[in-house]
Amino acid sequence: MTFIKENVPFKNLTTFKIGGNARYLAEVRNKEELRAAVSFAKEKGLPIFILGGGSDILISDSDFNGVVIRYVGDGVSFEEKDGEVLVVGEAGIDWDKFVKLSVEKNLQGIECLSGIPGTVGASPIQNIGAYGQELKDTFVSLTAYDIREGKFVNFNKEDCQFSYRESIFKKPEVRGRYLITDITLKLRKDSKPVVRYESLKTFLKEKNINNPSLSDLREAVLELRGQKLVDPSVIGNAGSFFKNPIVGKDTVLKLQKSYPHIPFFEINGDKVKVYAGWLIEHAGWKGKRYKNTGVSDKNALVITNPEGKATAKEVMELAVKISRDVYKKFGVRLEPEVQYITFN
Ligand code: EPU
Repeated sequence: MTFIKENVPFKNLTTFKIGGNARYLAEVRNKEELRAAVSFAKEKGLPIFILGGGSDILISDSDFNGVVIRYVGDGVSFEEKDGEVLVVGEAGIDWDKFVKLSVEKNLQGIECLSGIPGTVGASPIQNIGAYGQELKDTFVSLTAYDIREGKFVNFNKEDCQFSYRESIFKKPEVRGRYLITDITLKLRKDSKPVVRYESLKTFLKEKNINNPSLSDLREAVLELRGQKLVDPSVIGNAGSFFKNPIVGKDTVLKLQKSYPHIPFFEINGDKVKVYAGWLIEHAGWKGKRYKNTGVSDKNALVITNPEGKATAKEVMELAVKISRDVYKKFGVRLEPEVQYITFN
């Protein structure tokens, strides 16, 4: 099959630029090729690994004796209905290209998700979010291929069980079973953008933008991301390595006694979100190196592969050290946001 390649390094398939070799890589453009690739793996008795943009995963250093399947079909369609527009995007489109297209059509709902690396197909897996928007806010449904049962299935919003950087697709019992082929979002036509995130509000104020258009917002988000995040095409990384921990209000009140400036965000009556980036910086890890890995000096939440020589093992060791130090100092447990993938 022409769309199947052999011995492809995961280093070339992930933004962390880490990982062993994949025995086969199938880049499928449509449902027929997808079925053919799954049959190919089943006939050979090989396991399947589903890959999107490779921007939120850390792949282990050992080789994968199986078939990596990547859906690269990249069509988009728009259907208008009562002032709202249903947008269907195939899994293989670059997420930011999808946002750009929607903003250009003056469709509101995902403009704050500008600049997030990865593909449309991967966006529901961790319910991507930034600057006050999350995928789930506009999500309607998705189509996926059930590899176990060999059929296409539909998931609506409830089926996906979205929460902060989570969905059903991250659950161990479901992981690897479904390959998402397209998603449907409901966006609003000619609607005013709502700016919820403090740092975005401040940024727009400083630029004297009072009535931001969707493209103003997109530009602002891209600029802010540029200041705070590490461009994976320059230095290997997978964005925020940890989630922002959610703790009881009593924990923050106690911490405030020693750290009066600790930033936090109230979620409801007794739960607050504290910021992993702040905790890691104040545990002394910002800008530090560990073997071939490092913690970005721009943003303590980002673990990097500065010279492209880091191994998954080193990244995991660093993550354990950081979590241990944060726990020792603040009594708060960090949980990775990046998915660690091993094959045995
Ligand atoms: N902070 C520090 N030091 C740092 C980094 C952050 O003190 O090195 C502090 C900031 O000063 C601020 C707070 O932590 O008070 C929050 O920082 P920021 O607004 O930059 O957001 P974040 O919590 O670090 C989250 C998401 C990002 C998303 C931004 C903007 C998570 C785990 N991360 O980062 O998402 O782009 O908000 O909405 O929720 C990703 O998921 O990969 C990602 C990049």
